[in-house]
Amino acid sequence: MINRMILNETAYFGAGAINSIVDEIHKRGFTKALVVTDKDLIKFSVATRITDLLAQHDLSFEIYDDVIPNPTVDVVHAGVDAFRRSGADYLIAVGGGSPQDTCKAIGMMIANPEFSDVRMLEGGAATRNPSVPIIAVPTTSGTAAEVTINYVITDEEKKRKFVCYDPHDIPAIAIIDPDMMASMPASLKAATGVDALTHAIEGYITRGAWELTDMFHLKAIEIIGRSLRDSVKGVPAGVADMALGQYIAGMGFSNVGLGLVHGMAHPLGAFYGTPHGIANAVLLPHIMAFNAEHTGEKYRAIAHALGIEGAYACSLADARALAIDAVITLNHDIGIPLRLRDIGMQEQDVDALAAAAFADVCTPGNPRECSVEMIRSLYRELF
Ligand SMILES: NC(=O)c1ccc[n+]([C@@H]2O[C@H](COP(=O)([O-])OP(=O)(O)OC[C@H]3O[C@@H](n4cnc5c(N)ncnc54)[C@H](O)[C@@H]3O)[C@@H](O)[C@H]2O)c1
Ligand SMILES: [Fe+2]
Repeated sequence: MINRMILNETAYFGAGAINSIVDEIHKRGFTKALVVTDKDLIKFSVATRITDLLAQHDLSFEIYDDVIPNPTVDVVHAGVDAFRRSGADYLIAVGGGSPQDTCKAIGMMIANPEFSDVRMLEGGAATRNPSVPIIAVPTTSGTAAEVTINYVITDEEKKRKFVCYDPHDIPAIAIIDPDMMASMPASLKAATGVDALTHAIEGYITRGAWELTDMFHLKAIEIIGRSLRDSVKGVPAGVADMALGQYIAGMGFSNVGLGLVHGMAHPLGAFYGTPHGIANAVLLPHIMAFNAEHTGEKYRAIAHALGIEGAYACSLADARALAIDAVITLNHDIGIPLRLRDIGMQEQDVDALAAAAFADVCTPGNPRECSVEMIRSLYRELF
């Protein structure tokens, strides 16, 4: 068995890490950036911290800020046009998963112009060239898109989210600066934080998991478990811990895949625009229960990493229950709703949702084999 690991060339961590961008730009000889972000991040003076830094150092840039949450095919294509018009030679992604993913799609389409529609890049397309260089500056602590080889785009016409995975799209540089995340409202800290926890748990139990990715995922579960509540409350140390925890989870899952929670969350995002992290959070404990018998001893380690005492001193069934309960309690403490009906799901869509989840690229990674019928039942039970 051969395992592959792909990570950023360079990553900087800690408050103030954004200042490292200036040196990197000089060292790499970049001449003009297209900064990919969204309008709220400009309005709330988050993305402007990066553009101000560039301006202070006389570094040339233009801004593309038309990204929306759950970014669409049109958003990507307009970004490609903006890049071509700008004369830029590198990209800076500033934002949550939506600007990060849009930026990757732009970088890939510019470097591989034979892919003239982003839909052609779905799955693992045979691209020839690495992306235009990307400096990724996350402003949420969840998706870890700055270190993953994935990007997720919404096809509005077909009401579906599709995942592209390609080693060529990994950002050259990631800047994990918790100061860029501090302004997130509590609800966004909660939603993106549970996305990160879901990455860590699904990545740990996914079919392709192995020792090196287990190491990342268990550490991420531990860090997220101890810091997510504080982060939601706005405690600076919690925010900083979450910035790191979500990145470590990304180092793992990007290389081994996820599972049914993401497979079922993607259609909810595509149908109803449900925030990705919230969809994951509602699903996570139930899918953990669904998978429990197919995870060996791993739920003991999850419970232990989440700070639950006695996980190694009880029966396996009890340890599994402890792990699931710990996630339910965490969800409760940070205000996650209980049912899918609370987050916009319509019962009449259950067949279409189940078909989309079954076909999702994340679903085959699930440790328990599942059919469309099983997924339909799960959506119904959770409605
Ligand atoms: N590439 C990957 O590996 C990967 C993994 C998981 C999810 N995703 C995708 O990422 C997207 C979700 O990304 P997300 O959850 O990070 O949110 P997002 O990027 O969609 O942003 C959500 C909202 O939060 C606001 N926001 C972001 N940072 C802020 C800050 N610091 N202060 C105030 N407001 C802020 C944005 O302006 C936006 O309105 C989904 O499309 C999902 O499918 C990608
Ligand atoms: Fe996710």
